[in-house]
Amino acid sequence: MLAIRLLAEPERLDVLALPVRPAAEAEPSAQPVPVAAVLPDGVADELAALVPVAQLGGDAGQTWTQVRPGRVPARLLPFGIGAGDEAAWRRAGAALARTAAGTEHVTLLLPATATPAAVRGLVEGLLLASYRFRLGADRAAPALSAVDLVAQDPADYVDVVASARTTAEMTRLARDLVNMPSSVKNPEWFAGQVADAAAGVPDLHLRVREPDELAAAGFGGIIAVGAGSANGPRLVELDWRPAGARMHVVLVGKGITFDTGGISIKPRAGMKLMRKDMGGAAAVVAATLGAAMLRLPVRVTTLAPLAENMVSGAAFRPGDVIRHYGGATSETTNSDAEGRLVLADALAYAVREHQPDLLVDLATLTGANAVALGKRTAALYSEDDRLAGDLLAAVDAAGEAAWRMPLPTDYVDYLSSDLADLYSAPDQGAGSVVAALYLREFLGELRDRWVHVDMSAPSWTEGGDAELTPGATGWGVRSLLRWLDTLG
Ligand code: BES
Ligand code: MN
Ligand code: ZN
Repeated sequence: MLAIRLLAEPERLDVLALPVRPAAEAEPSAQPVPVAAVLPDGVADELAALVPVAQLGGDAGQTWTQVRPGRVPARLLPFGIGAGDEAAWRRAGAALARTAAGTEHVTLLLPATATPAAVRGLVEGLLLASYRFRLGADRAAPALSAVDLVAQDPADYVDVVASARTTAEMTRLARDLVNMPSSVKNPEWFAGQVADAAAGVPDLHLRVREPDELAAAGFGGIIAVGAGSANGPRLVELDWRPAGARMHVVLVGKGITFDTGGISIKPRAGMKLMRKDMGGAAAVVAATLGAAMLRLPVRVTTLAPLAENMVSGAAFRPGDVIRHYGGATSETTNSDAEGRLVLADALAYAVREHQPDLLVDLATLTGANAVALGKRTAALYSEDDRLAGDLLAAVDAAGEAAWRMPLPTDYVDYLSSDLADLYSAPDQGAGSVVAALYLREFLGELRDRWVHVDMSAPSWTEGGDAELTPGATGWGVRSLLRWLDTLG
């Protein structure tokens, strides 16, 4: 990963990154303004001459490369910081990481006006946009490998850089897990990755339940969905228990390591990318590891039900009735609605065994998320306005996107089955909404202290943009860490 240091004086001046802000309306020059505190000799004049030529207005995301053969610095990288807030600096950092790909080292002069929040955005942008995942030989220029941030008072930024680094590292871990092909990433492998990442983190406890234990304890949803695969299911339970925590949060993440649809098999185009169907599990696990590394003073128990939804003679069938943890039954109308079956077990278990203060689940649950909200925005459900508002605020501050969706009473009847307690996937209502209503049935008394996030759409990006690189986005890690940081 890109190495970022905070320094009071530059150690190297070969490649110099210089923040530039747009001219304020009142400024007569109408020129963008370089904002670094101290510039090397001659660089200020050169920048002033350069800025109009480079058409660098100072907007966040704009960059320019000025090569100066035989001189010091040998390269100038002026880059726009727009409004100078956290979001703009995140975008700026991401643009800089892309422009400087293939560069070994960059020295970046921070302006005295940069707030700690701005530096958080910058560091996240740099680290997230320089992410790469490839199993073959690399075809692109190597990512930028080191950035020195030079500040008049580095001490102002030490904490925020450490926190941004952990957040970005955990987002990168979630991306790695989601990008990994399912031939490698079976439930056992995923659980092993969690064990490796959790090893040595104080006060972090891991329990992994194997298939026979799951069956004996009545986790019928996880067992049914995993039944068709040669790779048995697992339930990961990761517990961050800081001394003195007053608040207890349970996070639940859907962990389908590959979703063929089962007997209700998916068409080929819809199946191609179904290795990403454990994005919820990856995000909640990575956020919990991050909370433990940052020692956030809130207890977090994370449940990741892991299974591979395959087609075989042992697979569960459409029309089977499944008995979940706690005893409620589902008539499985469609084996492709598998995520809610494993989540139902985990939610019922969380409510019964943990009785947390708050419960949040993340799941790549329905294609309907993208139909309703497009490719960038998660669908967020909660009965409680304040809890929904707090989460939406954290999502927004983190630079991710979610939109609150309704839980209409009128659709609840669609869930009633003649055969069992619930239909898992009624064909009325709206895809993402009825899935949320189904999950709510397992919340018992925690109904109004629960948030469900359907993040099927934003967990993946074809093209990448700003801090997102093509493939897995790690959606949710940043938002959850922000939110957890406000509790306690
Ligand atoms: N994993 C899919 C949802 C999904 C689709 C995630 C596209 C990411 C991109 C989920 O298990 C699924 O198949 N959902 C069905 C539900 C239906 C059978 C009620 C869907 O969305 O079609
Ligand atoms: Mn499915
Ligand atoms: Zn799925």
